[in-house]
Amino acid sequence: MRDSLERVSQIFALETSDLHCIIKAFHEEMALGLRGKQSSLKMLPAYVGLPTGTERGTYIVLDMGGTNFRVAKILLDGKRGARIEALKRQKIPPKLRGGRREDLFDFLAHQVGLFLLDNHCQETSLAFIFSYPLEQRSLSSGVLIRWTKGFTIPGVEGEDVAFLLREALRREGLSHLQLKALLNDTVGTLLAASYSAPGFDMAVILGTGTNACYPESVTRLPFPPERLPAEKVIINLEWGNFNRLPMNEYDTLLDSQTPNPGEQRMEKMVSGLYLGELVRLILLNVARETEKTSYKKPYCLTSHHLATLAATTSQKTGPIKEISDLVFFRSARIAAAAIVAVVNWMDPDLQNSHAIAIDGALFTGYPGYREKMEETVRELLGEKAHLLSLHHEKEGSAIGAAVACALRELPAKSF
Ligand code: BGC
Repeated sequence: MRDSLERVSQIFALETSDLHCIIKAFHEEMALGLRGKQSSLKMLPAYVGLPTGTERGTYIVLDMGGTNFRVAKILLDGKRGARIEALKRQKIPPKLRGGRREDLFDFLAHQVGLFLLDNHCQETSLAFIFSYPLEQRSLSSGVLIRWTKGFTIPGVEGEDVAFLLREALRREGLSHLQLKALLNDTVGTLLAASYSAPGFDMAVILGTGTNACYPESVTRLPFPPERLPAEKVIINLEWGNFNRLPMNEYDTLLDSQTPNPGEQRMEKMVSGLYLGELVRLILLNVARETEKTSYKKPYCLTSHHLATLAATTSQKTGPIKEISDLVFFRSARIAAAAIVAVVNWMDPDLQNSHAIAIDGALFTGYPGYREKMEETVRELLGEKAHLLSLHHEKEGSAIGAAVACALRELPAKSF
């Protein structure tokens, strides 16, 4: 078994030179994506810029992630302060992930109705965080390009999800609600972080899925500036789909067994939904015959299990802990290289400091993950590494969505 583990350790290793190649490829894909050319990075404008911290109001936020659906009432005080006045979290029933589209949207609308009743809400301005690749034409509309994170519901790709939500709200008797903003979770996280303090210019999600966004100068975009909200507009990279990473045989096997082979390649090497499965596939290959039976069921090992295991000090964990570290720390190194790529894109000579808001269970949940990212940033940037700071923005996207609503209500700032 030692030999097999040695081999796994080699094929999951990424040298510094590999990371520099990844950064170069990232820049090429970013440039193509921004010009609207064929690229694995979609570079989607979010039709919103950064806030000033003076935005105010109370808003209802809906947040559909990969695992949970949350409804929240958020108050922005106009002085960089925000309060979650009420919050309800619900697991998205697994059967809805591949069922009829009306069932999903009616479920969301029903939860909103219950939340408004339970919390006696009078507010009517709504924001919808929809954490899947969206092609937006305004802040309040967006067409789903394709499902990710295991969702396969037919009839949603190619459709405006704001319209589908409005229809469901109407069926639920909630047509008085006004959908003011539709946004990605990365965008929500960046808005929340920069509402609370100046200096943030990138947000990253390292959770069930992975992605990032940053503010881009409008002059670097190929469409008319008058359609955009400010000098800079937030770009959603959809970096989970980046496809120029060195894949090994386990990555290829995992990819071939997903509903979307060939897509979301980086996500399948980095994000929480897939890391447990990579560990399982390796174990099936290297563990003793007697142990293999426990790993027969696809996706039976979750990132959460492995994080708990990685935190134990017991010697009895067998090879699983060692394998898990190899898989999770490769993820951390890729994430760190991708962050450095985006920061270098914004600031090629690295002259300024950059605060990066990061959310998602991997970043703080897996022991050593954050430290591995920080170590990799130092490896790549040397003495300039101190200019990059990674901050945990815990569940900030809902606050950011409220900020997006407030920005929408200021016509000069966004639309
Ligand atoms: C989605 C992104 C999202 C990320 C994190 C990915 O699967 O495509 O839109 O931001 O997950 O939730």
